[in-house]
Amino acid sequence: MTRIAIIGGTGLDELVSLQDVHAEEIVTPYGKPSAPLSTGNIEGHEVIFLPRHGESHNVAPHNINYRANLWALKQQGVTHVVAVNAVGGITDCMSPEKLVFPNQIIDYTYSRQHTFSDENADSVMHIDFTNPYSKLIRGVLRSVAVEMGLDFTGEAVYGAAQGPRLETAAEINRMQQDGCDIVGMTGMPEASLARELDIEYACCALVVNWAAGKGDDGYITMDIINKHIQYGMVSASKLIAKALPELLKL
Ligand code: HPA
Repeated sequence: MTRIAIIGGTGLDELVSLQDVHAEEIVTPYGKPSAPLSTGNIEGHEVIFLPRHGESHNVAPHNINYRANLWALKQQGVTHVVAVNAVGGITDCMSPEKLVFPNQIIDYTYSRQHTFSDENADSVMHIDFTNPYSKLIRGVLRSVAVEMGLDFTGEAVYGAAQGPRLETAAEINRMQQDGCDIVGMTGMPEASLARELDIEYACCALVVNWAAGKGDDGYITMDIINKHIQYGMVSASKLIAKALPELLKL
């Protein structure tokens, strides 16, 4: 049976359209997830919601217990995850408020608990990660975004940075030379942990600023980011609500 979860990022700490919500505290062998899992429905379609930065947005990207989050979702029978991530735009077409469904990742993070293949595992897992994101989920997000007339890009390389600080202009230039189109702090190890648990996983990224050195301003302020989050997350939420019935058919 298909069971969908949404992992909310910055700007999506709550799914306002979620109805009949039942929140459950879960403890996993890896500790507690970022928040209780909220199960509810959007227009009658069941979905589980988990805000990765916590209910009051107090968990920094490097402190998120990604393993507990994914394990808890798996424990609840989740088969498919749509992860919402705020990102910076690097390449020219990645302008603020654009939705992006990346197809590749480059991981620049470090010192995060990034695998279930640790000292407690029976054997070492070498998952295939050639294509890190679910083609099926991306296909649904793309076709619903077309139907809704949203401004989106259906292919991109997500550069996962360590944070919580933003990058230097030189770091962004290096990421661009590596082939990154967008930069965020929470894409990894979430995606690979989902793959380790055999969960179909895709990212719905929202560009909330030009990455360091890419905008006209010469610097990035929280005011700029918040402004684009406010408008952009409305589109992201509407997209998810509309995609849900299609995702449940996967
Ligand atoms: N860099 C890294 N993460 C981000 C950014 C950025 O510019 N914007 C939103 N998340």
